[in-house]
Amino acid sequence: MNRTFSLALLFLLTSNLLAQEPATQDRPHRPRGRRTMTPMPSYPATLDADGKHVNAHGGCIIAYKGEWLWYGEARPHFGFTSEGVSLYTAPIGTQPVSAQDTLKATPLDLRWKNRGVVLTVVDDEGSPIERGCIIERPKVLYNERTNQFVMLFHSELKGRGYEAAQTGFATSDSPYGPFRLHHVQRPNAGRWPADFTEDDIRKAKALNPADYPEWWTPTWRTAVEQGLLLAKDFETGQMSRDMTVFVDDDGTAWHIYSSEENLTIQAAELTPDYLGYTGRYYRIAPGGQNEAPCLLKRGDTYWLICSGCTGWTPNEARMFSAKSIQGPWTQHPSPMQGAGAQRTFEAQGTWIWNQSAKEGDTTALYFMADVWVPRSLANSRHLCLPITFEGDVPVIRK
Ligand code: GAL
Repeated sequence: MNRTFSLALLFLLTSNLLAQEPATQDRPHRPRGRRTMTPMPSYPATLDADGKHVNAHGGCIIAYKGEWLWYGEARPHFGFTSEGVSLYTAPIGTQPVSAQDTLKATPLDLRWKNRGVVLTVVDDEGSPIERGCIIERPKVLYNERTNQFVMLFHSELKGRGYEAAQTGFATSDSPYGPFRLHHVQRPNAGRWPADFTEDDIRKAKALNPADYPEWWTPTWRTAVEQGLLLAKDFETGQMSRDMTVFVDDDGTAWHIYSSEENLTIQAAELTPDYLGYTGRYYRIAPGGQNEAPCLLKRGDTYWLICSGCTGWTPNEARMFSAKSIQGPWTQHPSPMQGAGAQRTFEAQGTWIWNQSAKEGDTTALYFMADVWVPRSLANSRHLCLPITFEGDVPVIRK
């Protein structure tokens, strides 16, 4: 092959790879929203101690015994599947090693040590985490009762795009793994939301998706609010995609996830071992189409920061508050302010990082977010911005 021909071939092959988004990108759970290619962001890489970009996305950073544990999606350089969940660690209390050019110094400037992939995809045919599957938004909790680390994640099956919409549970005796898959499931099969009255249940049961072939009409929207899609999945369990976890002051752990075709957030109480659901769950902003939930509690108020649903493409954040996880929730303007706020500074939230490492301390909270690079997910960047409070209301500026 002469050089010009090889270069042309290389270009054709790579441009095809770059252009490729899986058929699942047009899946029904993203009913609305423009899909455009995201330009390579101007954000710098987050370099680990080996000088490599931190391949941990959609993740969380928790404090444990003097160390920060950063778990996130281990993504391939090309394609949309998963390699598993990676872990990076850094000692708590060390000063940032550098202030990056375009960002002020944040905890992202710590010297992270790559501890490898702690939940790996497997080659067993039919396993929910068979190579080729999708593992997204892993969140890890240490369970004091069982002395186990429990990881929850958004689990999609090999070759089935985003249709399974399940939650995976994995455990490890050590924060460094290996985590072993416990099971995957959809939350709360056979349960109505805890605050549904007899009348609500009667109305929801009477709704039939076949009667609403056209989406986005006012009657369809009302039906969604009344539980059209919740009722559709009543027998098999509620859909669960983008997600976070939150342990409340009373020790109750909650799984908060995009459900009902990504139209409604649900908050489901976890069992004391964090390995299942108690059956108590609530809906947040029914029909509001929110994703990427991040939750913080300050004083007696819960603040939920979400994104809209435009896949990998950035959009304007949304914010809700409530005095109890069960609601009622009130919507507020986006907490993002300043230039770039309308597209969440090109990012999508994943976690509220408590930099003080002290439970309940809200003096140093950060909004952690992913700047997705769909053409090379492993290269997706990180953004970590301090959350300030004006009055009592969270404000995030770059
Ligand atoms: C985003 C979501 C990501 C991933 C992506 C796939 O909206 O937050 O976690 O699922 O869509 O298109």
